[in-house]
Amino acid sequence: MRKPIIAGNWKMYKTPAQAKALVQEIRSGLDQTVLSGREVVLCPPFVDLAVVEEAVRGSGIGLGAQNFYPKEEGAFTGEVSAPMLKELGVTYVIIGHSERRQYFKEDDDFVNQKVLAALKNGLKPILCVGEMWSEREANLTEKRIETQLAGGLKDVSPEVFSALVVAYEPVWAIGTGKNATPGQAQDVHRFIRGWVAVKFGKELAENLRIQYGGSVKAENAASLLTQPDIDGALIGGASLTAGSFLSIIKY
Ligand code: 13P
Repeated sequence: MRKPIIAGNWKMYKTPAQAKALVQEIRSGLDQTVLSGREVVLCPPFVDLAVVEEAVRGSGIGLGAQNFYPKEEGAFTGEVSAPMLKELGVTYVIIGHSERRQYFKEDDDFVNQKVLAALKNGLKPILCVGEMWSEREANLTEKRIETQLAGGLKDVSPEVFSALVVAYEPVWAIGTGKNATPGQAQDVHRFIRGWVAVKFGKELAENLRIQYGGSVKAENAASLLTQPDIDGALIGGASLTAGSFLSIIKY
């Protein structure tokens, strides 16, 4: 049985003080019964990580980062390494988000370097894939996803594959209020699992958690998350207030 993983990607929102307040509100709305059936992860900006780590301690809520640089250390001004994140108590890291691909020109090769570096350092990658609207219209969705999976997962060995989470985030659904329909999302999730089965074997594919992301909110969470191949959500806007995030967790 795959345990759903509900992650909040806070993007570039929340100062440390705001982050602390939000975590306290989320914590007070969660009990162990809910957390026994779901894995909940918060992915705040780097500068909030220490505060959030302290605020979630003992709650069962996990900590993720939104990015890192795939070198152990070195003269890379402004960057943050995997060992630094590990020491702060980070367990997951988002890799290949469409905003990083679009605004910071990260390609599949760089995404792959990050996936390999994360795994080597014991961080669990949340690998994001997703097509643009023009690609969907041109019937190129599966081709796009396959390219991103093959590029991002190059040289990943089956021995470490189980640490991975994949997030399907159609670019046209991110921050637009226009989510993929449960059917559209399920089709792509099934395709991803099928691709992984061919490359890494049926068992790893069956155990792989595939999150959906893109305008997930309290109102559509249940219909998306009850699809057979959807194993959680990666949430942007609706993770920034405790009420909406909690409603999604309790879908
Ligand atoms: P929204 O939930 O704001 O559409 O963002 C989705 C996302 O990009 C999560 O990584």
